[in-house]
Amino acid sequence: MSGQITIVELGPRDGLQNEATPIPVETKIELIRRLADAGLTVIEAGAFVSPKWVPQMAGSAEVLSSATSLDGIKLPVLVPNMKGYEAARRAGAETIAVFTSASESFNHRNINCSTEESLTRFSAIATAAKTDGIKIRGYVSNVLGCPYEGDVPVANVIGLSRSLLELGCYEISLCDTIGVGTPGEARELIRTVKQDIPVERLAGHFHDTYGQALANAHAWIEEGVTVFDSSISGLGGCPFAKGASGNLATEDLVYSLQSVGEAVSIDLDALVDTSFWISDRLKRTPSSNVALAFRGRCAA
Ligand code: HMG
Ligand code: MG
Repeated sequence: MSGQITIVELGPRDGLQNEATPIPVETKIELIRRLADAGLTVIEAGAFVSPKWVPQMAGSAEVLSSATSLDGIKLPVLVPNMKGYEAARRAGAETIAVFTSASESFNHRNINCSTEESLTRFSAIATAAKTDGIKIRGYVSNVLGCPYEGDVPVANVIGLSRSLLELGCYEISLCDTIGVGTPGEARELIRTVKQDIPVERLAGHFHDTYGQALANAHAWIEEGVTVFDSSISGLGGCPFAKGASGNLATEDLVYSLQSVGEAVSIDLDALVDTSFWISDRLKRTPSSNVALAFRGRCAA
């Protein structure tokens, strides 16, 4: 398995979008620089969404424009519609991410449209992106449960994944948005989905509300998934997903992978330093067990 797992770092976007107090653009840029210095090569830099809906993502153009000076780092940004697409393109985006949900109610609350309308919007974006040479990643939210509808049919997950691939997405991240899934449920889901969708085009995105995120990621690794989203310090959550908490912490994922020869190019000490650095700025304690254990070990 050595050398096969890719980490998509979401700290600057999913990690910060739900914070209560404004975060200066300079802090976001410094966070991205620190994450890149620690060895992460795919870092979601921001979101070109309405600042009225998500104030913390204001300034994403400035963040992205500045971060593009980092060599060899892929910097996807979220885009919900053509307005966001145009702004992302102007800021120098080379990769964007579109996002929809396997449950209808969540789409209405999150992007103020139906699932079908979201695909119509993405189709226009995909046409423009093809002309502009911009790559597209896709997200499907709530694959293991919706905060408004409860259980979500697996057929929705498969249907949307297929639609997003047909639009030209190079990868589909399947998301446990509210972190309710267990390894048994996660395994059952991926076994079904991969009968229709090539597993090498799928990624895992686990929020850690019930402490299951790392176990779920490893269940999917055993099923052949090789790309995982995570967030420094376990930051994150969606403002429109009631009860959602942070993402799988990058430090925890890296620690567990390095023992089997994965993610070895990532400097775990630098990640832990970055975890405490951003937590200090947000006036909180890291949600990562590994970060806390490392700091405790240093202090001992
Ligand atoms: P709307 O209100 O229906 O949009 O929002 P509208 O087209 O009617 O426009 C209303 C106003 O918003 C106008 O401004 C537009 O110009 C402006 P006004 O005339 O009132 O001054 N506007 C925009 N401004 C900046 N950028 C844009 C944009 N579009 C319109 N792109 C919209 C629709 C999609 C914009 C809104 O619902 C929105 O921004 N939603 C944000 C959703 C979001 O960011 N959610 C969190 C990220 S998703 C997530 O966390 C899940 C994920 O992590 C995976 C998982 O865990 O499941 C990815
Ligand atoms: Mg998320």
